[in-house]
Amino acid sequence: MNSRLKLGARSAVPLGMRRDLSPAELFDREYPAARKAPHLAPVPSYARPLDVRRAMEVDLSVIRDQRGDLVVAELGKHLPFVARRMYSLVRVPEGEARGGHAHKELEQLLFVLHGALDLVLDDGVTQQRVRLDDPEKAIYLRPMVWRELEHFAPGTVCVVLASEVYDESDYLRSYDAYRDELAALGW
Ligand code: TYD
Repeated sequence: MNSRLKLGARSAVPLGMRRDLSPAELFDREYPAARKAPHLAPVPSYARPLDVRRAMEVDLSVIRDQRGDLVVAELGKHLPFVARRMYSLVRVPEGEARGGHAHKELEQLLFVLHGALDLVLDDGVTQQRVRLDDPEKAIYLRPMVWRELEHFAPGTVCVVLASEVYDESDYLRSYDAYRDELAALGW
């Protein structure tokens, strides 16, 4: 196949399916604005913006048959970043809360595989509480969103996909430090 034909075929394939682009290139093509100014980034078709302006609710794909439901989160379709880390929150004792921080650069996709929890989001202006209780719904958090997770139902399994490996220097662990960083960014 000559290169012109190959290019033509490429453009007919949905963005997330372009195997010949690296994940970083995929991201740069679809979300250039998100990298420079997350608060101004366009909302992709598969997501709804939440009141906290940098967060979105994402419908994951579900393939149902008689054997059960298969839920998919895929790069370019539901996941606007390359996941370099996964962590989960499990066996959270009743009454315990998690989170209580923001990230300077990290992006995350958060969902509850089983059970339920309240995700409390804050962008320095607006606060919003979202009950996560459906494995088909995910929350996409851009950088600089303050989050707390509370009211875990017993047995809840919360999964987080993160755009970077663990880096403590990316954390803003006090709300004052978070507000200062927002001010420094002019947000
Ligand atoms: P913490 O930020 O308090 O968890 P949460 O966001 O759920 O409230 O993290 C608890 C500890 O685990 C802290 O010492 C940092 C460490 N940690 C890692 O080593 N790797 C990771 O990927 C994460 C998320 C945390």
